Amino acid sequence: MKILESLGLAPINPGACIGGDWTQTTGQGLISSINPTNNQTIAQVQLCSADDYEEMVLHAKKAQWEWRMVPAPERGEVIRRIGLALREHKDALGSLVTMETGKLKEEGDGEVQEAIDMADFAVGQSRMLYGKSMQSERPRHRMLEQWQPLGLVGVITAFNFPVAVWAWNAFIAAICGNGVIWKPSSKSPLCALALQHICNQVFKEMGQTGIFSVYLPQAEDKELILRDKRIPLVSFTGSTPVGRHVAELLAQRLGRSLLELSGNNAIIVDETANLDLAVKAILFGAIGTTGQRCTTTRRVIVQDAVLRELTGRLTKAYAQVRIGDPLQPDTLMGPVIDGRAKEDFIATIQEIEAQGGKILFGGKAIEREGNFVQPTLVMAQRDHDYIRRENFMPILYLLEFTVMEEAIAINNETSHGLSSAIFTQDINHEELFLSAAGSDCGIANVNIGTSGAEIGGAFGGEKDTGGGREAGSDAWKAYMRRQTVTINWGGQMPLAQGIRFELDNE
Ligand code: UN1
Repeated sequence: MKILESLGLAPINPGACIGGDWTQTTGQGLISSINPTNNQTIAQVQLCSADDYEEMVLHAKKAQWEWRMVPAPERGEVIRRIGLALREHKDALGSLVTMETGKLKEEGDGEVQEAIDMADFAVGQSRMLYGKSMQSERPRHRMLEQWQPLGLVGVITAFNFPVAVWAWNAFIAAICGNGVIWKPSSKSPLCALALQHICNQVFKEMGQTGIFSVYLPQAEDKELILRDKRIPLVSFTGSTPVGRHVAELLAQRLGRSLLELSGNNAIIVDETANLDLAVKAILFGAIGTTGQRCTTTRRVIVQDAVLRELTGRLTKAYAQVRIGDPLQPDTLMGPVIDGRAKEDFIATIQEIEAQGGKILFGGKAIEREGNFVQPTLVMAQRDHDYIRRENFMPILYLLEFTVMEEAIAINNETSHGLSSAIFTQDINHEELFLSAAGSDCGIANVNIGTSGAEIGGAFGGEKDTGGGREAGSDAWKAYMRRQTVTINWGGQMPLAQGIRFELDNE
């Protein structure tokens, strides 16, 4: 296939790249990357061994040893070149994202764009790893804070963002002077291998030792990276239960974890809202990526006066959603990732109905090739249990409220805290939502939906979402070691806190 070839991929691919060299390992098992649109194999990957892992970490440590002394702006130059290479491969890589994940071509390309944006951001950041200077309490002393690389950073990503989430972590970690070891999802491994090919090429052209490694281990070796003391930071994106396990293992060895876990995101729509905007945002938020983003809109909390109107408009919009092959330009919703996700959808609908949720639209799996389900709209009640669980599918719950305090309480009464939004023209409602008594999420948007965040801000959320922040703002600090420096440039040795500690004869 031309797309695969142009990205350096073959029908069977090695499952690990150490520096710039691909492993030759066979016999550890072969996984297939399956296109969820037709359940056919796109290509296969040879899983790597525990020995490959060991060799990879040893190599990565050696490469990082040199990389940490490369001036940060020069490290940025490598990432700039990777950004240029991504631009060249945007169309092919965007198509591969669509083939592996089932998200729309438009979204696949958007994801590559997110990685390009991240490269640009990292280039700028490479000149801005700012430290502070502080006022010392002692005469002729100077205090400052500087930032050093951590060493090796492990990155574990989910199937749904097989390019962008790695870029958030890897590009920032790299300009900070770290080496990066990536374990991508086994459901979308080809995107990872394609990115590695692109990076290898750039490192080679620039005469640099590669500081990005990728590996796809067999099941029993999956946790090596979590237990490995040589990897001080592991950034994990995935579900809350797995994230909790990751955090526990990292905490045991006093390593750091950077967690970006599930969300149960809501949009509040009050009676003053511009419903045209709200409907557009809700539709993209709930149906985009077939409901499989951590930022997907899962709940809409609607003021009583506009409930009927909004429900009517949403039902009408849902009926117009074109479901099908995500590579086709007029498709608005592709498949869910696999047969299991389709079964989860059916089970979730049964649970909703058993608890008294009313299906307003959809509710059925679609009988055709691939893993397709109907976008589904449910009238739910605040005391229904299912609304507090993250469903990773295109099912949207509508909930009614009367006063804004109630809407905010509903917004906050889930264990997750990733993204939230309000649609309103009422400044008091908007300010309450953004106040200390407002949304408890890491992201709070006004007249914008819950998904599709720009990379310039710090991305992540609270509570069961894990507390990590990635991508923009000062998220770079998580990938560095803070060092407090105090310099004495006088002839005396005064102690802090005014402590006197002197021998008698002095
Ligand atoms: C994810 O689903 O893990 O804000 C990340 C968004 C995207 C990232 C989603 N920029 O929806």
